[in-house]
Amino acid sequence: MTTNKEREINLFKYKNNDSDFFIKRCSLKDINAVIEVNERELPEDYPFFFYKSILDNFPESFLVAQNKNGKIIAYIMWRVEKAPSIDSLRYVNKGHLVSIAVFKKYRRKGIATTLLNNSMSAIKKSEILKYVLEVRVSNYTAIKLYETLNFKIECIKKKYYRDGENAYFMILNVGNS
Ligand code: ACO
Ligand code: ZN
Repeated sequence: MTTNKEREINLFKYKNNDSDFFIKRCSLKDINAVIEVNERELPEDYPFFFYKSILDNFPESFLVAQNKNGKIIAYIMWRVEKAPSIDSLRYVNKGHLVSIAVFKKYRRKGIATTLLNNSMSAIKKSEILKYVLEVRVSNYTAIKLYETLNFKIECIKKKYYRDGENAYFMILNVGNS
């Protein structure tokens, strides 16, 4: 029998020897800790049932990072959506990044990059043809992060956020349709 701990470590490996975090799938008991990261680091807050519905529907790409004491320090969650193909003759899947955040103290250690890489490969089996996201036009840090993964700005969504700020709509094509 494998313990939970072993399963977690088998699922996602430590990034490197001197890193002090590891990545695992989110579970129901982690949601409150995820909410704590979200509320501290992002102005967009969601109710508990929102996180739970993402976890119920898209568990393979809802990941958390823990420090060596087991404290949750970052999360990422995605939705898989159907979208019309370019020729509009069929539907294709796209991965929509719902939210990512890392506690300030743990930033710039590659945690977000590790979360993005692992979650994006986890949803690839849903035959994702593109990944999409919105980000505040003022969020230089996050825009830089997405650019390192080859996301490109597709357009601006005017007044996307409740406070009136515009969003960049960024996409990363992975299929050829
Ligand atoms: N300045 C410039 N470039 C940066 C910065 C920064 N402050 N932070 C990250 N980057 C770029 C760099 O290219 C970096 O690579 P490098 O460190 O080798 O130069 C690369 O992104 C990868 O950085 P990571 O260490 O993987 O990113 P980190 O773990 O620090 O997390 C994140 C980045 C998630 C944007 C973090 O700053 C954060 O939690 N911010 C607040 C929450 C937030 O804005 N979330 C995104 C909202 S949009 C959405 O959720 C869809
Ligand atoms: Zn969105």
